[in-house]
Amino acid sequence: MDNHLLQNYRSAPVTIVRGEGCYLFDDKGTRYLDMIGGIAVCALGHAHPGIAEAISKQAHTLVQSSNLFEHEPARSLANELAKRSEFDRVFFCNSGAEANEAAIKLARKFAYRNGDTKRRTILSCNGSFHGRTLGALAATPNEKYQEGFGPLPGGFRYTPFNDIEALRAAIDDTVAAFIVEPVQGESGVIPAAREFLQAARELCTQHRALLIFDEIQCGMGRIGPLFAFQHFGVRPDVITIAKALANGLPIGAMLLTEQVASGLQPGDHGTTFGGSPVPCAAGLAHMRIRDESGLQQNVERMSAVLFSGLREIAHEFPDVFSAPRGLGLLAGLPVKEPHDAATLVTHARENARVLFNKAGNNTMRFAPPLIVSEDQLSVAMRALRDAARSLSVPVAAK
Ligand SMILES: Cc1ncc(COP(=O)(O)O)c(C=O)c1O
Repeated sequence: MDNHLLQNYRSAPVTIVRGEGCYLFDDKGTRYLDMIGGIAVCALGHAHPGIAEAISKQAHTLVQSSNLFEHEPARSLANELAKRSEFDRVFFCNSGAEANEAAIKLARKFAYRNGDTKRRTILSCNGSFHGRTLGALAATPNEKYQEGFGPLPGGFRYTPFNDIEALRAAIDDTVAAFIVEPVQGESGVIPAAREFLQAARELCTQHRALLIFDEIQCGMGRIGPLFAFQHFGVRPDVITIAKALANGLPIGAMLLTEQVASGLQPGDHGTTFGGSPVPCAAGLAHMRIRDESGLQQNVERMSAVLFSGLREIAHEFPDVFSAPRGLGLLAGLPVKEPHDAATLVTHARENARVLFNKAGNNTMRFAPPLIVSEDQLSVAMRALRDAARSLSVPVAAK
């Protein structure tokens, strides 16, 4: 069959045709247990009937009317997110990178509107990932993503993750915002230390810089509470979310306080599809179903199961794995050289029909749908163990 798709993704040789709960099915009818969840997107699993119904109903009512007019789904989802986060204002866009672009632009314009025109710098962390548009990429200090795309926008600086003293030295009165992932996802699932985020809050307040949490991967219930800042007990000025917000439909959002919201005035920023009725209706259904199904409690229970399984496997195969990291249902299991996480991913897919994913720094990443069950996690752990066994002799057998 012809394939004119641009070769910019390293896709596995599998064509997915449908999904159901925690399973995906390919064009040959093979069923796969999905431990990736669309990369932390499908919180309620695939083809959730409540989401499908909300999409269908909205598609039969209104798909697009532009941002020249308000509409009920966007207003209701904004109200719902504001209520749950205790932020005041919500800007909708279409992806995570766009949400971060909005936050970067807001930070600079906020300073500008306050007459603080020299405050231009956006500070971010080494190892972070904020997206692939040019602004978000400039905040992502990783050669792998930046190489060959220069010149990138200026005014970006970087500081080591989880290093309070370095942060103290980096935040000065030229910094418009410090953007940080409460759990770094792409670089191999590395949680921030609570004290680091607390110090960031204090330093940003002291220097009148905005504190932005990029919760695109770790938010929306992935680590337990709906918002990651609620887990850490540190309140930023702005948060960015996307991925799981509409359980798979493209949407991103920036949530901000009333005070900071004055940075953007009518005409300052926008996007044609931002806050379209269909993804907003799906997002609203997600919030409702999340409450009805006790999703947070399932994340807490299944997180304990997942991490105990991963710890056991790391202990059993000390030449293959280091100790697992992460929170909730976002876990990383670092793979030791000379082994490659990609080999384990392929082994599990081909032999056990379980889908895993390799994140940065040779780490196995686990981000299953938040509805995952104990039985499904034990199938996944068996597949991981078998894949590790294919590489190494376990400690007990040595
Ligand atoms: C923390 C974080 N920020 C931003 C992004 C970019 O989101 P998107 O791919 O929707 O542009 C991602 C995507 O993986 C992410 O994990």
